[in-house]
Amino acid sequence: MIVLGIETSCDETAAAVVCDGREVLSNIVYSQVRLHRPYGGVVPEIASRNHLEKLPGVIASAMAAAFGESEADPVRESWWRELDAVAVTYGPGLASSLIVGLSAAKGLAWRINRPLIGINHIQAHIQSVFLDNGTVAVTDCFPLLALVVSGGHSALIEMDEPLAYRIIGQTLDDASGEAFDKAAKLLGLGYPGGPVIDAVAREASGSCAPGFPRGRTQAGNPALGGLDADLCFSFSGLKTSLSHYLRDNPPQSDATVADVAAAYQEAVVDALIERCETALSRSCYKVLAVGGGVSLNSRLRERLTATAADAGVELLLAHPRFCGDNAAMIAGLAGAGGGIKGPAAFVLDVAPSLEADVQSDYRCDITAI
Ligand code: KG4
Ligand code: ZN
Repeated sequence: MIVLGIETSCDETAAAVVCDGREVLSNIVYSQVRLHRPYGGVVPEIASRNHLEKLPGVIASAMAAAFGESEADPVRESWWRELDAVAVTYGPGLASSLIVGLSAAKGLAWRINRPLIGINHIQAHIQSVFLDNGTVAVTDCFPLLALVVSGGHSALIEMDEPLAYRIIGQTLDDASGEAFDKAAKLLGLGYPGGPVIDAVAREASGSCAPGFPRGRTQAGNPALGGLDADLCFSFSGLKTSLSHYLRDNPPQSDATVADVAAAYQEAVVDALIERCETALSRSCYKVLAVGGGVSLNSRLRERLTATAADAGVELLLAHPRFCGDNAAMIAGLAGAGGGIKGPAAFVLDVAPSLEADVQSDYRCDITAI
């Protein structure tokens, strides 16, 4: 099954072609980060306008990379004939960004007479660990514990079998990527914060090591919504604690900035590792799968390797090109059988607050067609 994936949930305009949910034939990502950098974060209006402008070219590039260019075929019928379906992110994300990809995918699928598949972005981040990773037999990976860590999400998700998602923990406020982005802003390191904190922290000497909180949550907090406090995260206090520290101890040198960044990174990573260890100690998982932009963090990767080894589970990390937002994971999940299909897909609306485990419960009014 050959699927064209489209992803526009935030500030990456992406398209990819994936065969049978695993083999990536092309993967094109146009990152808008340069446009949002002056504002220190994603500006929804700028993001949606750029998706609109760039998406047609990004789709054409993904198709050309997968199937080659054909001068003699100006409407590119030969490309579209290769496809079995079009998959697209319908949530979660920025409404004004999601709508560009979803509308384009609906129009294209309709025009080329192929099924449309609506994909949950968080579930796709989990699927990214299986992309271009032919050595792993997916059916041998369950029960699986997934950690999704990105700019918009931080969640622990349990899967007893493929495509069955249960959230067992999540952040009650900021996502881990947001915690990095906000810290980098406070430290004057620019945007996005994760990569720069990761790089700067490697220069730390350890001579100044402020103690930051580990983002624990209290049982009884109504925001838990029935989840176990020991499996949930809270990163907003950590950011406040950094801001107070910097107010009282303004760094006098790059070396001190590096030390503070390293201590902060360790606090975020510790929080993520601690919850993973708790979850791994409670159930018998075969695999710990980690996806999302923050899974690029070198210190997190190092610590996850040790955690998985101690727990006796296999660690599956997405390949770095599939960690950040991309469309290969969208086409991959569709090719693996995930997503909303049939007439329901054509009446999907964007779902900015879509939960990671919502798919199986999703109800769609197909009488509206
Ligand atoms: O998955 P992603 O591309 O987009 C969302 O779905 O949000 O994740 C983006 C996030 C940003 O917050 C960025 O700072 C963070 O991933 N990130 C990192 C690293 N590279 C990207 N965080 C920590 N260390 C990194 N090396
Ligand atoms: Zn993402």
